Amino acid sequence: MSEGNSNSSSNQMWGGRFAAGPASIMEEINASIGFDKKLYAQDIAGSIAHATMLAAQKIITDADRDQIIAGLNQIKGEIESGQFVFSRKLEDIHMNVESRLAELIGPAAGRLHTGRSRNDQVAVDFRLWVKAELIKTDALMTGLIKAFLDKAEAHADTVMPGFTHLQTAQPVTFGHHCMAYVEMIGRDRSRVRDAIARLDESPLGAAALAGTPYPIDRHMTATALGFREPTRNSIDTVSDRDFALEFLSLAAISATHLSRFAEEIVIWTTPQFGFIRLSDAFSTGSSIMPQKKNPDAAELVRAKTGRINGSLIALLTVMKGLPLAYSKDMQEDKEQVFDAAESLELALAAMTGMVADMTVNVTRMKAAAGAGFSTATDLADWLVRAVGLPFREAHHVTGRAVALAESKACDLSDLSLDELQAIHPGVTEDVYKVVTVEASVAARKSYGGTAPDQVRSQIAAWRGRV
Ligand code: ARG
Repeated sequence: MSEGNSNSSSNQMWGGRFAAGPASIMEEINASIGFDKKLYAQDIAGSIAHATMLAAQKIITDADRDQIIAGLNQIKGEIESGQFVFSRKLEDIHMNVESRLAELIGPAAGRLHTGRSRNDQVAVDFRLWVKAELIKTDALMTGLIKAFLDKAEAHADTVMPGFTHLQTAQPVTFGHHCMAYVEMIGRDRSRVRDAIARLDESPLGAAALAGTPYPIDRHMTATALGFREPTRNSIDTVSDRDFALEFLSLAAISATHLSRFAEEIVIWTTPQFGFIRLSDAFSTGSSIMPQKKNPDAAELVRAKTGRINGSLIALLTVMKGLPLAYSKDMQEDKEQVFDAAESLELALAAMTGMVADMTVNVTRMKAAAGAGFSTATDLADWLVRAVGLPFREAHHVTGRAVALAESKACDLSDLSLDELQAIHPGVTEDVYKVVTVEASVAARKSYGGTAPDQVRSQIAAWRGRV
């Protein structure tokens, strides 16, 4: 049997499971148009900048440039109106656009690719796309920070249990807890800005890997495309995907932060906790249990994190064994980034909505804040300050008070003065001022502590940063 491309001629030895012959399989594995058509606007912008520079450098004529630019603008219109016919045979967005340009303007189209290669072209397109996505991400993160700031402001005095090991540790305020997330998302946003600063270099003109003999002006195209400057090493330029890895890394870190709050939402919305309620807009019912209100949005934010982490690991793994410079493996970069970007956008938007809409059960939080002898440390600290005990002894005395309260099934503040004095004669009436949850949080005035005044001053500082 002869070899060919048709269905009937798949390989006799291994072709049983293939519906089509080798060439068709090659087309399928090779083509990226299915996903890189997303880069059409960047591809056309890159080509317009390149053609403009080629004419300015007298590498092509002004007439060719004008035809090329008119053709490219027409193609952009065709794509945006859905008329453009993408072809898998033409592999990718770069060749789809160039081939249509040839149909539209004839031989002048062939001059566009002078002094460049698809290797620098795809790097330009993808960097531009990631940069735009980072700018969008910055805005979404700012929106989430604002939502947390509003909640923090409304609940600067709302006392809740602070946890370590998910065991009640010490009272904190819900405002302070929200501000922990402001710090986290704030760091995420600064990673976004760092990533933009590092990727803001134009690959255009690195060509295949070695540069080009034409007298191109890379500074001109860099400026035209909004990059700060051109990259400095043509080999690195076409083999570098750090900008994609940085995007995925910062996305994974940010998603991890979102996932931690998502987990807290899941816990806090249980009837057992009852700390918060999500709005109907961000929860769902059960098809069988009428009483249920499920925090699906929070659960999906938590799950998207797994998906984003997967994309990061996938691209790290694709890149780790590649010799310089370009290898086709790198074509696998885009889907990971596109998918992670979509997931992160959704997660940030859903989280912003949940935070803005959630209602806080102040009574439940306060009751829980006092449970579990959460002010025991305050009692010990008071024994140090007011009675002059060494902290270790104060810790021991407090432990006995906790044991007594536990045996009586009451709070520390319910123990009588006689009972406390039986444990240590130095205890006075003043002790009752420090063992309430409000007193506990108000006392934690150290910089960055949970005292409402501290929290308010951090909110004010963050208002200035958004
Ligand atoms: N579709 C390719 C990619 O995404 C474009 C670059 C192709 N370059 C090459 N030498 N085959 O990476």
